[in-house]
Amino acid sequence: MRVRMPLMEWFVRTFLKASLAWLSLGVTLGVAMAAHPMWTVYVPAHMHVMLVGFVTMMIYGVAYHVIPRFTGHPLHNRRAAEVHWWLANGGLALMVSGFVTRVARPDLGTVVLAAGGVLSALGAHIFVYLIWRTVDGPAPLKALAERSMPQAATRSARSLPIA
Ligand code: HEM
Ligand code: HEM
Repeated sequence: MRVRMPLMEWFVRTFLKASLAWLSLGVTLGVAMAAHPMWTVYVPAHMHVMLVGFVTMMIYGVAYHVIPRFTGHPLHNRRAAEVHWWLANGGLALMVSGFVTRVARPDLGTVVLAAGGVLSALGAHIFVYLIWRTVDGPAPLKALAERSMPQAATRSARSLPIA
């Protein structure tokens, strides 16, 4: 079965761009903290902009592009990947607002942080599910492969070099 895939999906392009935007924001905050050490109260915001914003969004974008091509299986659900983009970015924006607000207003900041964290975590769970199912491939294809090639699969596994 030949699967047609667009050059680059909307959510791939926007995850990559979001990652770059978070990197810009993160280094700006980093430089501000370096120049003005009193602002190191905002380290948790800087850290999550960098790790959840820059690093994780880059991984999401690259994985959504590369894993379907590596496996030869279409992404399990493209609409869910779009929802993931909004949850990841909306969630992180709330988390960062919460980390910043928490400095002066711990009560309010914690609520905003928790709300953002729930959205962000929900997005991450969608990613886990989508990539997991994409690695497995569509159910009919999996069943067909298991029905038509069980001996071949065992044979080739047995003939693999151990080291
Ligand atoms: C222009 C680039 C950057 C600048 C100027 C910068 C600046 C800073 C400053 C001033 C701190 C606070 C250190 C302290 O507690 O005194 C900090 C902490 C931190 N930064 Fe950056 N940073 C930069 C890039 C990055 C990048 C690219 C990452 C990760 C991808 C990163 C991750 C972190 C983390 C995880 C911490 C917290 C470390 C801890 O546990 O104390 N930073 N950064
Ligand atoms: C649902 C998403 C997440 C939430 C709600 C969350 C929340 C938090 C909170 C509340 C803290 C303690 C901050 C403080 O007051 O010092 C923290 C620390 C930290 N988080 Fe996250 N986080 C999330 C995702 C991530 C991810 C994906 C990464 C890395 C890729 C990460 C890396 C870290 C690190 C390195 C620390 C500092 C640990 C330490 O040295 O104290 N977080 N996070």
